[in-house]
Amino acid sequence: TILCPIPHALADHPAHQFPLLIIHRQCPNQGGTVVNAEYSVVADVLIRDEIIVAVKPNIQLTGGMQVLDATGKLVMPGGIDPHTHLDMPFMGQVSCDDFASGQRAALAGGTTMHIDFVLPVEHDLLAGLEAWRKKARHGVMDYGFHMAVTSWSNKVSRDMATVAAQGINSFKFFMAYKGSFMVEDDALLRGMERCAALGALAQVHAENGAAVAWGQERVAARGVTAPHGHALSRPAALEDEATGRAIRLAGLAGARLYVVHVMSGGAADEIAAARRHGQRVVGETVISALALTEDSMWDSNFTVAAAHVMSPPIRSTAHRASVRQALAGGVLQIVGTDHAVFNSTQKAAGKEDFRAIPNGVNGIEERLHVVWETMVNSGASTPSDFVRATSTAAARAFNIYPRKGSVAPGSDADVIVLDPSVRHVISAATHHSAVDVNVYEGMEVTGKVVLTLSRGRLVWDGTNLNVTAGSGRFIPMPLFQSSRPDDLGAVVPGTAPTCPSGHRVKHADTQRVATL
Ligand code: URP
Ligand code: ZN
Ligand code: ZN
Repeated sequence: TILCPIPHALADHPAHQFPLLIIHRQCPNQGGTVVNAEYSVVADVLIRDEIIVAVKPNIQLTGGMQVLDATGKLVMPGGIDPHTHLDMPFMGQVSCDDFASGQRAALAGGTTMHIDFVLPVEHDLLAGLEAWRKKARHGVMDYGFHMAVTSWSNKVSRDMATVAAQGINSFKFFMAYKGSFMVEDDALLRGMERCAALGALAQVHAENGAAVAWGQERVAARGVTAPHGHALSRPAALEDEATGRAIRLAGLAGARLYVVHVMSGGAADEIAAARRHGQRVVGETVISALALTEDSMWDSNFTVAAAHVMSPPIRSTAHRASVRQALAGGVLQIVGTDHAVFNSTQKAAGKEDFRAIPNGVNGIEERLHVVWETMVNSGASTPSDFVRATSTAAARAFNIYPRKGSVAPGSDADVIVLDPSVRHVISAATHHSAVDVNVYEGMEVTGKVVLTLSRGRLVWDGTNLNVTAGSGRFIPMPLFQSSRPDDLGAVVPGTAPTCPSGHRVKHADTQRVATL
């Protein structure tokens, strides 16, 4: 029985007017389904004070309960986008979604938490963290931070511990962007070693930066100025090589590794081999790798072509198929976006030279829909796989599960309702991001997020947003046990032999991270 249908206006749903019941049945044995990464069940979800307090069939309705009808729909944990760059200074521009506009877009697409990359200010981690805290002040949803490490010194090493103590358990190293963010292998190794000692996750942007710079020079010398020069100058081999190198260095340093934005089949193969050998490597791909192809960079319209410039580049149809396969088969576990948006005038900085086009594409709003269409509607993945890839695996990887990533008693009430029957078309005309183009323009999707609850507040009803500036909350991500052999709780020295290929052989599970 539906006691109170979904109101037409969000204003009828003021914050915290709860308990709130998401009900799944109009009559017994008919209705929607709670989908978690491990199981699906027809059940009601009871929310009180921002927390899910019960998930079970036929919860008794009492006075004062608000009821949202999810009949025929799927009730899932809100998405976690582990890879965003809001308000980021980069390549002479600042990405044009700030925390307010980017997070509004996220909520409209069913993502209820994102993890943004803090960039050091002049290589100073603490100054970077301070700057990012200010940027996030006007946020409207939960967020966390990764910390980029762009140089190496004793101070950086010390500051990593300070940063970690403030709820950041992942450090990212750029193997590309020579002359700005890139670190050489010695800094990378030392940084990975420090991650291992702290119990943090080492992340890499895996491209051979020296070879990219060489490739860019070569392509430009041949007179190529247009956006497709970007694709020509940094082929998949450079991503594959860097991924393999990062894996081997992480094995040496004893660090758990997280490879961000895997775009090539070869990089996925490197991760598969490492995991086969028992090495702890998490592979993240992004929706642009799942849905797009490099052909757009050859578009004769500069605005369209430049909009598709990101690094590593969007690749061929064959790579797209390989990345989809790797995700479906579990070689890659997580789908992010790398949402880093620059509007057409910003992208025009590279009108005469592809090397000056600020790198980045949109996706924070489109992610769930693109994954649903490319993976679930195609038959490659199940709805539970979808939940795992868009939410649960990230919550596990960053040590915030089951607070996030689950529709279960005790979890934060970050919940979405997806109607698998609603067909819609992605467009810049209707998206909520501040960017003026959309790389998924015209993509048809069957399946739409029709409700988003952020910590129990109904913030998106499928048409309208109702958010409060400043309501976003920083979610601290605790460190794991150290994975250094000589640190507390880790493996006994000598029990982590190396196989002939150089991959570390699987040893005792001392980490919570990843049954990924
Ligand atoms: O093109 C991209 N990916 N821009 C954002 C920075 C990065 O490399 O993640
Ligand atoms: Zn990157
Ligand atoms: Zn990125």
